[in-house]
Amino acid sequence: MISVSFVCLGNICRSPMAELILKHLVKERGLEHSFDIKSFGTSDEEEGNPIYPPAKRTLRAHGIEGEHTARQISLKDVINSDFVLVMNSSNLFDILRLTGGEFGSKIFKLCSFTSNPRDVADPWYTGDFEKAFVDIYEGVNCFLEYVLKEKKEAIDYDLRH
Ligand code: 4NP
Repeated sequence: MISVSFVCLGNICRSPMAELILKHLVKERGLEHSFDIKSFGTSDEEEGNPIYPPAKRTLRAHGIEGEHTARQISLKDVINSDFVLVMNSSNLFDILRLTGGEFGSKIFKLCSFTSNPRDVADPWYTGDFEKAFVDIYEGVNCFLEYVLKEKKEAIDYDLRH
């Protein structure tokens, strides 16, 4: 079982989009039992709120459905994750402050797995959820390819037992 936690600021736009995209992609491959996929915010501002409607509409336009309730990440959540995937440099800074600089080897920017490493476009002020979706989808897809290679033996073992 591979535990993945996506992280943004509020946990109502970017990281729940990433969570639902990865859940969709692993389900398409029949690998949903090999992954534990969650998302969190670095702040508690949106705690308890659902996915922001424009983010949900964008996911739906791409055939991806699902629900999420915003939660702030804790140190325990980082410890319990195999991968902590953040959207941008600001999220990375906040997570490393939470961990005191520890666990850096499992904390990555999502789009660092692509051939064009970059921050995910933040739709909060631009309203451009499609641009955020494109960045997040590419990052999640590249991450999945990476992890399926990297953890092939563990996934094969999980599927046999
Ligand atoms: P998210 O989007 O971090 O992608 O969930 C935001 C949500 C709330 C705020 C900013 C970004 N905010 O400033 O309240």
